[in-house]
Amino acid sequence: MRPEPEAAITGRPGLLVFDHAAEAAAHVGQIIADTLNRTPHTVLGLATGMTMLPVYEWLLTAKRDGRLSFSQATSFNLDEYIGLGAAHRASFATAMRRMLFDGSDFAPGRTHLPAGTTIDLDKEAARYEAAIRAAGGIDLQLLGIGRNGHIGFNEPGSAFDSTTRVVTLTEATRLANRGDFPGSQDVPRQAITMGIGTILRSWRIVLLATGSAKAAAVAHAWSGVPGPSCPASALQGHAAALFVCDRDAAAGISDWQHGGGSR
Ligand code: GLP
Repeated sequence: MRPEPEAAITGRPGLLVFDHAAEAAAHVGQIIADTLNRTPHTVLGLATGMTMLPVYEWLLTAKRDGRLSFSQATSFNLDEYIGLGAAHRASFATAMRRMLFDGSDFAPGRTHLPAGTTIDLDKEAARYEAAIRAAGGIDLQLLGIGRNGHIGFNEPGSAFDSTTRVVTLTEATRLANRGDFPGSQDVPRQAITMGIGTILRSWRIVLLATGSAKAAAVAHAWSGVPGPSCPASALQGHAAALFVCDRDAAAGISDWQHGGGSR
């Protein structure tokens, strides 16, 4: 049984704004914990990026305190760099082990990322897409947002009905992600990512954005004309999507509800 979506079916996503990034992250952690406690075999869609670090810290604290368990859950990550093996220090597989998996109690084999070193990458993309479907689809997808509005590694120009595939990263994204690499020239040029269509098929979606660097992307995603120039604007068509922001990330929009209120 899938969990019931909490968001009212209003035809539009919800938006919650918190005074501080830590509060926004804790709220997202609480949504995930509530979902796991209600439906232990939830299929989670997970994201990398620094924005997610406090969410995963919150979840690991809750797990240590006995307030949640991942033992029956399954996860699918959004994306992985092409050419980096799971053991590479800058791979998303390594980031996920470091941020969440090593301290969690996910059952062996239940956490999935696309394999960025497979010889036939198109086949790997199709396999990953099929694996998500075979798991019954994603119940709760966690998303960050790139400064150019990308979700997963769906850069501007990505079709809203795209599925898991190999993509070329923009220079701006490579530069933004250089922190994990010795130099910006070492950031891979390609990645394998769930498509926007894959993401939109999730039962519920929570996008977390914090910091002023995300304000323009969040404003376009929330209230700009939806279209491929801002991949996250595709979420406007998902009635069970929720944007969770801090004040800095929400600075470009006015019609928000304070996070202290009901969601
Ligand atoms: C990467 C990931 C995205 C993530 C984005 C933002 O590009 N593929 O899923 O949302 O980074 O990362 P950060 O949270 O570090 O700003």
